[in-house]
Amino acid sequence: MRETLRHHEHLYYVLDAPEVSDAQYDIWMRELRALEDEHPELRTQDSPTQRVGGKPKEGFAKVAHSRPMLSLDNAYNEEELREWDRRVRELAGGEDIAYTCELKLDGLSLALTYEGGRLTRGVTRGDGVVGEDVTSNVRTIRSVPLSISTAKLRDSGLPENFEIRGEVVLPLSAFQKLNAEREEQGLAPAANPRNAAAGTLRTLEPNIVAQRRLDFYAYFALNESGHIFSRQSEALDALAAAGFRVNPNRALVHALDEAWDFIARADGIRDSLPYEIDGVVLKVDSTALQGQLGFTGRAPRWAIAYKFAARAGVTQVENILVQVGRTGKLTPVAELTPVAIGGTTVGRATLHNADEIERLGLKIGDFVTVERGGDVIPKVVEVLREKRPADARDFVFPTRCPECGSAVVREEGEVDWRCIDVNCPARLRESLLHFAARGVMNIEGLGEAVVNQLTERGLARNLADIYRLDEAALLSLDLVKHKKAHALLQQIERSKQAPLDRVLLGLGIRFVGERTAQFLADAFGTMDRVMQASKEELEGVQEIGPRISAAIVEFFALPGNRELVEKLRAAGLNFAAEQKKVSSRLDGLTFVLTGTLPSLTREEAKKRIEGEGGNVTGSVSKKTNYVVAGADAGSKLDAARKLNVTVLDAAGLMELLEHGRG
Ligand code: IVH
Repeated sequence: MRETLRHHEHLYYVLDAPEVSDAQYDIWMRELRALEDEHPELRTQDSPTQRVGGKPKEGFAKVAHSRPMLSLDNAYNEEELREWDRRVRELAGGEDIAYTCELKLDGLSLALTYEGGRLTRGVTRGDGVVGEDVTSNVRTIRSVPLSISTAKLRDSGLPENFEIRGEVVLPLSAFQKLNAEREEQGLAPAANPRNAAAGTLRTLEPNIVAQRRLDFYAYFALNESGHIFSRQSEALDALAAAGFRVNPNRALVHALDEAWDFIARADGIRDSLPYEIDGVVLKVDSTALQGQLGFTGRAPRWAIAYKFAARAGVTQVENILVQVGRTGKLTPVAELTPVAIGGTTVGRATLHNADEIERLGLKIGDFVTVERGGDVIPKVVEVLREKRPADARDFVFPTRCPECGSAVVREEGEVDWRCIDVNCPARLRESLLHFAARGVMNIEGLGEAVVNQLTERGLARNLADIYRLDEAALLSLDLVKHKKAHALLQQIERSKQAPLDRVLLGLGIRFVGERTAQFLADAFGTMDRVMQASKEELEGVQEIGPRISAAIVEFFALPGNRELVEKLRAAGLNFAAEQKKVSSRLDGLTFVLTGTLPSLTREEAKKRIEGEGGNVTGSVSKKTNYVVAGADAGSKLDAARKLNVTVLDAAGLMELLEHGRG
């Protein structure tokens, strides 16, 4: 069973080419779990069921690397690259030279130790000499094999004990999801995928790390005496054969012109890759020659990083505007003298909030560095003080809403200023756009141009007015012809069928994003029950804490919002939750909860177990499959031991609840 699951994990997570459905995979995983529960003596550390385990109790231990993890010298243009090539050839004394060309992934390097083919340790680069032992987190990265079969070791030519080095990255999709969640929770977004990956790898909750979907690309295979293979290209192929993810965008070249072609191609695909890269690494292919070339300071002579032009540019801040979002949040935006950055012209950059302007020390008229990262929205990262013009002036954050003129407020402990006038036209505009957006009510065609006109002309004064639009109203707008009006009306009509979670999301309640809306709909089933729910009842729903529950109660307490909901009801919207396919991950399994769990209340644990088809009962018997024991567990734990019932801690329960791959 373990071999079967490993094989399919490899197909899915490393080769991106699954051969069975997720459901089938889940069934096998459950079967394996059941077997291991019946025969705990057969459960091994490298079992696919054992990716998420306990958290390191005392933080991450410091570990010395077997040999230093070096950095690379950089080349920033073709001339510097050719200069490096000349030196290598000179030092090699005319020997034929081949280079591997690899993408330079923008993540962080990691060293993995395998003993007897099993992963025993994962250590961050740290300062290159000493790193941190993050094994518990590395184990959650699905593209890192927990063990490698004897057959694979033999076929790939890897010994039983070896060290792998490579790069951990957070794919862009995971990065964007993380930032959307952070935004939803009112937290500052992570600056870029590399920082987010580094932060994730240093998180003390393996559960959270498992959800973040880090990925690992291997590029070195070492043992005590150094490189295992005589060529880097061979090492990469061997790593792939052993089951590691090796970047498929690689080449072996024999002349710098060919390397230069590779670089051009890499730059060309840069924007379409699912992760960030910041250059190309060239390595002398022969490891013997590598040894001969040696090192200078902290970098090898046998490798170089060709760095792509940074996706940053210097330009002048002509003005600072303040935009009003759907929640009334005021966001300062720098208007820039347009500058070309990595193929696009950038004329605006976000400044996030008032504190950020202060932190940057930014004045209107300043020259700044603007960066375009994993996000689409460029940001100002630095003020070039020495270039400050004499007429640069301070920016004064408005005390009134730039759209409607009402006073703005900043709540205690928050960084954002908000316009709290519910009738603010900017808020209405943004609310309409959010309501209609893809992934919310999916009303295609209700974009900025149409929404602007609808609000300006008083055709939409609230969300429900969308459902009162008719052909005549739409045809009165500029640029809307019969065909478009017809299509839009159809879209609007169709949106009435959207399930409850979409409507809840569309209302734009603070902190209620896609996940929370889904949990609310699942837990309460109808709009009325959500509206009537008390703060306590709301907090019984997974992932809802005091802050979110307060926002929901506050929202539905406002007469204007209740009125809006009634109008939507009258318009014929669907206020019932989607009939969920009942998840059956824990079907037929019986649980007993005892003691205090650190990460969730007993009520939450019960809900989640039941949500997955499991039963929760009060006393331990022979029919009990699991006892979940927290701190101060009492007689139930003793009973479990006596009856040989599997005992889980909170982490074990979470794993069981979340081992799916969705
Ligand atoms: S080789 C001594 N190969 O770039 C060799 N590094 O600027 C050093 N990196 O610390 C590493 N992709 O984190 C190598 N294909 C690749 C790489 C790569 C990304 C990172 C790595 C390293 C940094 C050096």
